[in-house]
Amino acid sequence: MTFRIAPSILSADFARLGEEVSNVIAAGADWIHFDVMDNHYVPNLTFGPMVCAALKPHAKTAAGVAVPIDVHLMISPVDALAAGFAEAGADLISFHPDASGHVHRSIQAIKSKGVKAGLVFNPAEPLDVLDWVIDDIDLVLIMSVNPGFGGQSFIDSALRKIEDVRRRITASGKDIRLEVDGGIKTDNIRRVADAGADTFVAGSAIFGKTDYKAVVDAMRRELAA
Ligand code: DX5
Ligand code: ZN
Repeated sequence: MTFRIAPSILSADFARLGEEVSNVIAAGADWIHFDVMDNHYVPNLTFGPMVCAALKPHAKTAAGVAVPIDVHLMISPVDALAAGFAEAGADLISFHPDASGHVHRSIQAIKSKGVKAGLVFNPAEPLDVLDWVIDDIDLVLIMSVNPGFGGQSFIDSALRKIEDVRRRITASGKDIRLEVDGGIKTDNIRRVADAGADTFVAGSAIFGKTDYKAVVDAMRRELAA
């Protein structure tokens, strides 16, 4: 299993976002998680495709290797801005099925731009749509907090849901990443991996400390244990 750590720049210093992206990549980030909020689907407002495009040149290692930008859309409707993020350099775009009137169409619209597509499930959202689109997606993102804010506590029922998604992915035989978002810390990441997750979003746990690399390294040690 290849584990990936995806720091969420929601908890970064917005006055120096480019530098924060570079620093967290230097600290070992595998993906950059980009939380898009619209003050409609969630009660908060962040950034759009223009900020993504501005950060794209920073999303690479010192050696020049591109680091994927993992866009998490917490917006409704989905399709117009998803297209904007594809143009802005997003590598993966995930949306909440309950925010789209036509889930299958939204997935195809993202994939038609050559971008990987993911579905995001809130803590109380059932997984039923996966029965119909699992062959079409590249990623499932399980929310372990209610979307809208960083720094919330991990909701334990997410573990059962991750186990359920892992079974579905295995049964599908597809190469689909299973990401978890919300309340991930060094002291719970192992439990979440044991439930079946392979990709871990962490915002406040990383950006809330001065030494990002120390946190990323500690998370990797937990995952390797
Ligand atoms: C919440 C966002 C998360 C958030 C996670 O709506 O989707 O990505 O930044 O933050 P932490 O790691 O602080 O819970
Ligand atoms: Zn997120």
